Amino acid sequence: MSKRFYITTAIDYVNGQPHLGHAYEKIIADVIARARRSLGEDVFYLTGLDEHGQKVQQAAIAEGKTPQAYCDALAADWQAFAKKLELTNDDFVRTTQPRHKAYVQAQLAKLHAAGHFYKAGYTGFYSAKEETFLTEKDRQADGKFDTSYGDVVELKEDNYYFKLGAHQQWLIDYIEANPDFIAPSYRRNEVLGFLKNNKLEDLCISRPLARLNWGIPLPFDPEFVTYVWFDALVNYASIAAAHPELGLWPADIHVIGKDIVKFHAVYWPIMLKAMELPLPKQVLVHGWWQKDGAKISKSTGNIIDPIAVINEWGLDAFRFYVLRELDIGPDGNWTDAGFRSRYQAELANGLGNLVNRSLSMLKRYRNGVVPEKSTELAADAAKAADETRALLQQNQLQAALQSIWGLVNRANQYVDQTAPFKLAKDPAQAQRLDEVLYNLAETCRVLAVLLNPFLPGTSAKIYAQLGLIGTPDKLADASWGGLPPGHTIGEPAALFPRKDEPKK
Ligand code: MSP
Repeated sequence: MSKRFYITTAIDYVNGQPHLGHAYEKIIADVIARARRSLGEDVFYLTGLDEHGQKVQQAAIAEGKTPQAYCDALAADWQAFAKKLELTNDDFVRTTQPRHKAYVQAQLAKLHAAGHFYKAGYTGFYSAKEETFLTEKDRQADGKFDTSYGDVVELKEDNYYFKLGAHQQWLIDYIEANPDFIAPSYRRNEVLGFLKNNKLEDLCISRPLARLNWGIPLPFDPEFVTYVWFDALVNYASIAAAHPELGLWPADIHVIGKDIVKFHAVYWPIMLKAMELPLPKQVLVHGWWQKDGAKISKSTGNIIDPIAVINEWGLDAFRFYVLRELDIGPDGNWTDAGFRSRYQAELANGLGNLVNRSLSMLKRYRNGVVPEKSTELAADAAKAADETRALLQQNQLQAALQSIWGLVNRANQYVDQTAPFKLAKDPAQAQRLDEVLYNLAETCRVLAVLLNPFLPGTSAKIYAQLGLIGTPDKLADASWGGLPPGHTIGEPAALFPRKDEPKK
């Protein structure tokens, strides 16, 4: 049996409510997971929460709660959010779970025994807000640290360090020998540039209890807890180990945002090497969303609440916009006008109109009974199916949607060219009308199959309106001719109701 395809997202800090950026990443991973299942692979999709560390501890204190009670309350919101997005995740990790903590401690003990750590003293300027020591390079021209670091204090403390630096050349060689390890390629080049031009410092993997107690205790020194990133990255392996019967490790894809590449493409591979585990096949890096050309920020109110958008427009409209608007890689910009315009043009007038008029005409002119097979649009459908399959295998989600809309537009154009409403008026054209109606209904069926990973709800609706049983979740079913003549379709209904323009 082939190995299960194992895909993960970053685990989110549980110090607030989910926003567009979090939703985007989970949707990318969900589409890839659904696509791989549709291609016949066994898949395991993991997402979850990063619950330890200073940020969470501070947020809990600010609300007058214990960190655990704070995390438990928010974890319920985040799990409900995953449901709202209809993610097909197979597990949901919380780093406060015993299964994860025990695994992290076992790895730490093993690495310590094998001599990968050493203890040393350090004096430096510490930003609690960013949970990091700052260096001289971080000072501004006036000698001060930027206000974005919050209060910066001078600290002296002992800590444990992981001998990261020793593996620098090995990592460069690995990335050069495995060109797909970091995607897109410009992110790979950035990592290589960084590794070739900087000396890798050893990584501080502990925090003294006096400064932070919300973390996993070091198994070999009770005076310290584990640095939150060392704890968080391990989730990918700890949860794989929690399902030993599935043989999940190594992961196939870690989907992450561009701000955390160094952790996933530098620290994590070296940690895995020390842990004597194989490396994930790919770190897939997406860009960041802005709104109206400015940073998304709670404090300035420049935010998009995914739940509000979904409640107003439907989940598939939200999934469609983020996937169609932005390729995996560059940064994107959300505008409400852009969202409305894609909804009207591509969903309501494009896909929705095609399905609605195709099925309504079949109902009206042939009582909903599918006519004899015809292959006039078969080549167009095959082209879209072949392209979609190939693009999905390369995680090119935006391009796959463009190809699918090539078929939507072709079929809408076919309606205009063949004018079935005119054919219906002329009894001598009955056979021609049969042909046209078959081509349209069958194109709708193919579209349901191709759209399934992206817009699962819409795909299921198209299937149900075609009167078909089951779910169109196998890409192999996109081949032309699946709709049997003589079959009676279901009831057509608008997929994307038109929305009035907002009142001026
Ligand atoms: N907890 C760490 C990740 C640990 S993974 C072992 C973390 N959490 S986060 O909540 O800050 O970010 C989670 C993910 O959301 C990251 O991949 C991040 O890049 C992504 N995004 C956060 N804001 C974003 C946008 N505005 N746009 C797109 N993605 C964004 O980092």
